[in-house]
Amino acid sequence: MTKNPKFLSFNKIGSPNLGYISVAENHENIPFDIKRVYWTYYTPQDVTRGGHAHLELEQVIVAVSGTIIFNIEDLEGNKKEFILDSPEKGLYIPKLIWRDIKFSHSAVLLCLASEKYMESDYIRDYATFLKHKTNEI
Ligand code: TYD
Repeated sequence: MTKNPKFLSFNKIGSPNLGYISVAENHENIPFDIKRVYWTYYTPQDVTRGGHAHLELEQVIVAVSGTIIFNIEDLEGNKKEFILDSPEKGLYIPKLIWRDIKFSHSAVLLCLASEKYMESDYIRDYATFLKHKTNEI
């Protein structure tokens, strides 16, 4: 079965008076074993990050603060924009998805990842990414 990028919706426990808690749990609302968690912050608004795909890594991304815009492309050439503008929203990204990422002022990106960091899992060259489409690699 082909896996596609999609929004996940986290529980929002609490109330406007008390504030909220959202929870991520392995194989409950996260479709993989979480092996790594990282977060990015202080990204200037005029910077585009990402610019890569992964060979095996699956991720769930949350904008715990601010707004984060993912422009993604799969190997069939489908392009889509996902706007993360609430901490109760997650974005599931399967393997082999090219992504460019923009951040609002003071946005904080939380990533739950299915693998430990491995530079050899990155495809950082767009032409190389496209070659995976035609099985040239
Ligand atoms: P990268 O994943 O390319 O960042 P982004 O997609 O946000 O632009 O990572 C940036 C740098 O940080 C790169 O040199 C690799 C390093 N890095 C680690 O050492 N460990 C990690 O878990 C991550 C995510 C990145």
